[in-house]
Parts: sequence; structure tokens; C-alpha cells
Amino acid sequence: MMIQIKALIADGILEGVKSIAPQSDMTAEDVLGLLEYPPDPAMGDIALPCFKLAKTLRRSPVQIASTLAPLVSGEAIEKAEAVNGYLNIYLSGAYLASKLVPEILAKKERYGAPDMGQGKTVVLDYCSPNLAKPFHIGHLGTTVIGHSLKKLHEFVGYKCVGINYLGDWGTQFGKMMVAYKKWGDRQTVEEGGVDALVDLYVRINNAIAEDPSLADEARAEFCKMEQGDEENLALWRWLVEKSVKANDVTLQQLGISFDSYKGESAYTDLMPAQVQKLRDCGLLKLDDGASIVDLEAYGMPPCLILKRDGSSLYPTRDIAAAVDRKEMYDFDKCIYVTSNQQILHFQQWFKVVELMGYDWYEGLVHVPYGTVSVNGAKLATRTGNVVLLKDLFAAAIEKVTEIMEEKNPDLKGRSDIAEAVGVGAIVFYYLSNNRIKDINFNMEDALSFDGNTGPYVQYTYARACSILEKAGGEVESIDSITLTDPVEKALCVALSQYEERVRVALRDYEPSVITRYILDVATAFNRFYHECSIFGAEDEGVKATRLALTAATKHVLGSAFGLICLRKTEKI
Ligand code: ARG
Repeated sequence: MMIQIKALIADGILEGVKSIAPQSDMTAEDVLGLLEYPPDPAMGDIALPCFKLAKTLRRSPVQIASTLAPLVSGEAIEKAEAVNGYLNIYLSGAYLASKLVPEILAKKERYGAPDMGQGKTVVLDYCSPNLAKPFHIGHLGTTVIGHSLKKLHEFVGYKCVGINYLGDWGTQFGKMMVAYKKWGDRQTVEEGGVDALVDLYVRINNAIAEDPSLADEARAEFCKMEQGDEENLALWRWLVEKSVKANDVTLQQLGISFDSYKGESAYTDLMPAQVQKLRDCGLLKLDDGASIVDLEAYGMPPCLILKRDGSSLYPTRDIAAAVDRKEMYDFDKCIYVTSNQQILHFQQWFKVVELMGYDWYEGLVHVPYGTVSVNGAKLATRTGNVVLLKDLFAAAIEKVTEIMEEKNPDLKGRSDIAEAVGVGAIVFYYLSNNRIKDINFNMEDALSFDGNTGPYVQYTYARACSILEKAGGEVESIDSITLTDPVEKALCVALSQYEERVRVALRDYEPSVITRYILDVATAFNRFYHECSIFGAEDEGVKATRLALTAATKHVLGSAFGLICLRKTEKI
């Protein structure tokens, strides 16, 4: 909705620009890029900082603003004022609401979804933990950013395939085998679950630090696996199954499942063909016995393809997996979400895929994110200094349960709601920051019911639900809208920006755009709720409008929650 109004405004401004400078090659698109949302509605709903045009138009911002002001008009516009070199545009609340609210009521949670992805397929590789290692807070980023990106793409019509590319092959399994054979037994692991596995993992890493010969033992065990030793393979299959099951419990709490769990081990057979192709293309070079692709010409260190002993490496498996995915899904884009420590890895093998002549290399996208520390401490899985996701969620759920028992002792279905709010608090906190920033996780902040948190926005959603319930149910449509208070218009302005934010979130692969948008809507709605009485409204028309605004808010929040893996809570 706002997109259409902005386009009209941009046309008016462009007309003015051309009248001042007929030879200017400025486009409506350029003008759109200059429009801003002022921080305070007293300065208009949309503004053009005219100093940005001063150079092109060779006029002062003040002159430009006063030339342009009369050109921005129409039903949608209440007024346009030139103030100190700014063009401040005030929208007509009545017009905006009369177009916007019926549209949201009709489309419900489909409102705000541009048809961008029709007929296109996106593969998303995220979560992808190394199994036999703990599933910890460091995996939260890839999991929730990845799933949000999937939801965003689905929302706008892409066919999406979510892949949990399990790290189910590698020397860590050799270590686990040594540990299991030394200290483990079936029953302890069956009963102890993840915790038993983590114990073994930490114990063997500590032992290796004392006695490095154990590392050789671990390599030997892994080597046996690679050579097809049935005893080790059986143990491996069992350890993989245990880890996947344990991780799934956590993923279920997040409401996340995958379309494919094809992991690294699946590519041992498909790799040789790609290695041969590299050789045929003349790309492989021997370097001290190892096979590499030289990337010096591209300013990067070489990409390692085969170790000296001929065994394959992480990039090699990624290349084979990408070829396989292209064949299986014929993707338009294949998105990889990992920590920023892997930026070089992806740059390297993307380049290798390009050099191999695969024309789809342009569809490969790496989406990195910053590192996480907990209360200031960096994570180290090997020494056991690690916060498991399951423990983090359990702590959050417990804390939320306490708060809820205090605030709302009669609530039914509390454990389900506490899970949605506790886990949601963590997800929301995590997705509040730009993904590339490092995060220091602070549990107290995340779980607060006040401030810009998950519980706050979920509470807002529940508030909208309970208003509608009290009024007798959903509002399906509205014939005529009567706005009487500026906060109602402010809420409409916020709701009208949804599609724009969705587009930005997709363009930048940035779920935090949606998180911040949710806060904007929640804040606008709560202001409306506190200042406008719904059930005590002066007449039926005003009441109907306010209920319709509440229903519209509920749809937009509900839809946006879905985009960032936040569960909807009708009651808290
Ligand atoms: N398993 C890897 C890790 O834990 C992440 C895999 C990311 N995906 C990929 N296709 N390389 O570091």
C-alpha cells in the first residue's frame, strides 16, 4: 500500500525535477531511494531531504523544497510542506485507511506478500551442525536466520527446499569412537541422550590434550570408517541417529523441520566425478602431495581439494553437493547460512564452481553472521565450555513459567504457551540485531516482558486476540472507516509499510528487518490501545473502525511472526 503511494509521490517529485533540470537523467526509482520516514510524525509521514538534490539541480535545498511542494498532491496526500530544505509530506489518514484496512481484512496473513518468486526455486542450506558435537548456542544463528529466510522466500511465492546438510562425516567421529570404546556403553548413551554424548566428546578432547597419541588413534578409527569397516560404520550410524534425534527435539521447539537431511557423508561417492572434472578442466595442481585449485589470480589462497592421502575435504564435498542440488532441484538460488568464519571458504569454492564452467554459479549465495558469546564468554565446544541450545531453551521456559504463574495463575495450557514464549524470547532477541554483528547473549534482557522483546510482542498479539474475542470474533470486512485520532492513522502508516520491509529483508537477506518492523507495529498498536477506547467508543462507526484496526494488526503481526520463527500466542 505504502509502495503505491510512494510511487505517486515520486512521480510528482520527478516532474518537478524535470521542470527545473530538463536534461537530468534521474528516474522515479532514484527519487524513491531518497524518500525517508521522518522519526516524528510532526515532520510528516514521508519526507524528501532536498539537499540530496542540490547538486543535480544547482539550487539551494530551500528553493527545491518550495518548488516541489505544490507538485505533490492527490487524494492520498493531505498536504506537502517545505520546511528548512525538507519536503514534508502528510498522508491523508482517511484515504490510507480506506484502502489499507479492507485489503488486510480480505487477504489476512497473505497481505504484504508481493508475487516475486512465482516459478522459481530456492534451496536453503542451514543449521547443518557437525554431528557428534554438541548442538549449542553457536548454531542458533544459522538455524533461525536460515529458517526465516526460507519463510520469507515462501511468503513471496518461491518454492523452497530446506536442507540440513548434516556434518555427519569427519575425524570427530573417529574421536567419538575412541571415547565410546574406552568409556562408553550402549545403555548409558541410550539413557543419557545428548548429555551422555557431550560428556564423551568433552572427555576425549581433554584426554587428547594430555596425550596427543590419542589423536592418532582417532584418525585411525576414522580411516577404518572410510575404508568401510562394518563395525565402525554400524557405530557411526547409531551415533548419527542419536544426534539427529536429539537435535530434532530442539528444532521442534523452534517449529523447524527440513525437507532434506542429506549430509556430507552422502557425497563420498559423488565427489570423484567432480575431482575428475577439475582435472579435465586443467584446474587441479599438485602442491606438496595435496591437490589444490590455485586462486592467486583472484586474490585468494588456494582451494584444497584432496589431502595428501587422497581423502577429500570440506570444499570438495560442498562442490559435489552443489552439483547434486542443481541436478535435483534446478534451483535459481542456493543459499548457505553459516558463521562469518567461513566467508573465505565459500568465496573459494564458489569461484572454483565458476571456473569449472557451471553457469549457475551466480545463484550461489553465502549469508554470513557474527559470532555469539554468552555473558561475555566465547564458546569452546572442545573444552565443554558451551551452552547447549536445549539447556538455553529449558532455562528460558522455566523463567517464563515463573513469570506467568505470577501474572496469570489461571491460564490454561500453560506449558505450551511457556514454550512458545520462552523459545520465542530467545529467537526474537537473536534476530533483533543485524546478522553480521557479533552478539553477546544476555538472558535477563531476552526474557524481559517490558522493552523490545519477544514476550512484549507476543503479549501484544495476545492482546489483539482477546479484544477480538471479547467483541465476538474475527472482523471479516468493513464498509466505511472513521478515523478520529492521530494514533489510528499512525497505526495505519505502520501497517502499510509491511510489503516494503519484506522486500528489504529479502534483498539484504536480513530477518532483523522484520523483527524491527514487528516492534514498530506493536508500539503503534499499544499506543492506539492506550489512547483510543474500543468498547467505550463514541459511536458504532468509530468502534467498528477500531475493531477492524485491531483485526488488521493481528493479521500483520501474525504473518510477520511466522517470518521470523516466532509462534503466535492467543493468550499469555
Ligand atoms: N557443518 C558445518 C559446520 O558446522 C556447516 C555446514 C554449512 N553448509 C555447507 N554447505 N558448507 O561448520
